[in-house]
Amino acid sequence: MINYQKVNGDFDLGGKVAIVVGGAGGIGEATARMYAKKGAKVAIADMKDTVDEVANSIAEEYGVETTGVFCDVTNQESVDSMVNAVVERLGGVDVLAAMPGYVHLAPAKDISIATIEKHINVNAIGVFRVCQAVANQMIKQGRGGKIVCVTSQADFIAINEHVGYTMSKAAVVGMIKVCALEWAEYGINVNGVAPTVVNTYMGEKAWQGEVKENMIRAIPAHRFAETDEIAAAVLFLSCAESNMITGEDLVVDGGFTIY
Ligand SMILES: NC(=O)c1ccc[n+]([C@@H]2O[C@H](COP(=O)([O-])OP(=O)(O)OC[C@H]3O[C@@H](n4cnc5c(N)ncnc54)[C@H](O)[C@@H]3O)[C@@H](O)[C@H]2O)c1
Repeated sequence: MINYQKVNGDFDLGGKVAIVVGGAGGIGEATARMYAKKGAKVAIADMKDTVDEVANSIAEEYGVETTGVFCDVTNQESVDSMVNAVVERLGGVDVLAAMPGYVHLAPAKDISIATIEKHINVNAIGVFRVCQAVANQMIKQGRGGKIVCVTSQADFIAINEHVGYTMSKAAVVGMIKVCALEWAEYGINVNGVAPTVVNTYMGEKAWQGEVKENMIRAIPAHRFAETDEIAAAVLFLSCAESNMITGEDLVVDGGFTIY
C-alpha cells in the first residue's frame, strides 16, 4: 500500500536518501542539487570521473551528506556495488532518480542494429537494472520509496532520426507501468518525467542549426527547457506530495505534444 501522508506543499525530503543515476551533469546534477536543497542526503552515481567533485560541491553548498559513486548501468556488478556503497555510506535509499542517457541520431533506414542495441542497453535495460536493484533494497528496508525515470517527449510523438532513442524510451514507459503496478504493495511509487529538448550536453548534441530553429518554432513555449524546470518535476514525483501518482509519465514540454 502507498500510504496517505498529510502534506503541506513543502516538497520536503529531510531524512531521506536519494540516488541520482546520471547525476554528474545536466538534468541529473540539477535534480541532485534540488534534492539536497530539500534536505535529502544525495548520492551521485555516474560513469563520469567527476562524481566526487559534484557530490562535494553539493555537500558544501547545501550542508547535507553526499557521496559520489562510479556506476555503469550496463554492468550488473557495477549497479549492485553502487547500491551497496550508498546503503553503507548514507544508511539506505528512499528515492531514486534514474536518468543515464545515450543518443545517436540516424535515419531509420540506415541506423545500425548495434546502435539500436546501445540505446536499449543504456536507456532501457540500464534504467531497469538500477530500478530493480534499488526497489529490492527499498523492499528490504520496508519503508516504501520513490522512483522517477527521466524519459522523453519521444514517448508521445515521432521525431526525425530518433528511432533508436524512441525505442529505448518507449520501453521505459512500459516498464514504469508494470513496476508501478507490482511495487505499489511495497509503498513504492514509480513514475517518469518526459522532457522536451533541454539545454544540456545531450540537448545540444541532438539539436543544432536549422533543426534547432524549427524545433523552437514548433514548441508553443518557443524555447527549450532548462535543467531546473525538469528537476522540479522530478522533485514533485520524489516526495509525499505526489503519493497518489504512480505509473505516470509527466510531460514537461512547453506544449510540444499538444498537437
Ligand atoms: N537534454 C535533452 O534534450 C533531453 C530531452 C529529453 C530527455 N532527456 C533525458 O534526460 C536524461 C539526462 O540527460 P541530460 O540531458 O542531462 O544529458 P547529459 O548527457 O548531461 O547526462 C546524461 C548522464 O548520463 C550518464 N551516463 C551515460 N551513460 C551511462 C551509463 N552507462 N551508466 C551511468 N551513467 C551514464 C552520463 O555520464 C551523463 O552524466 C537522459 O536520460 C536523457 O535521455 C534529455
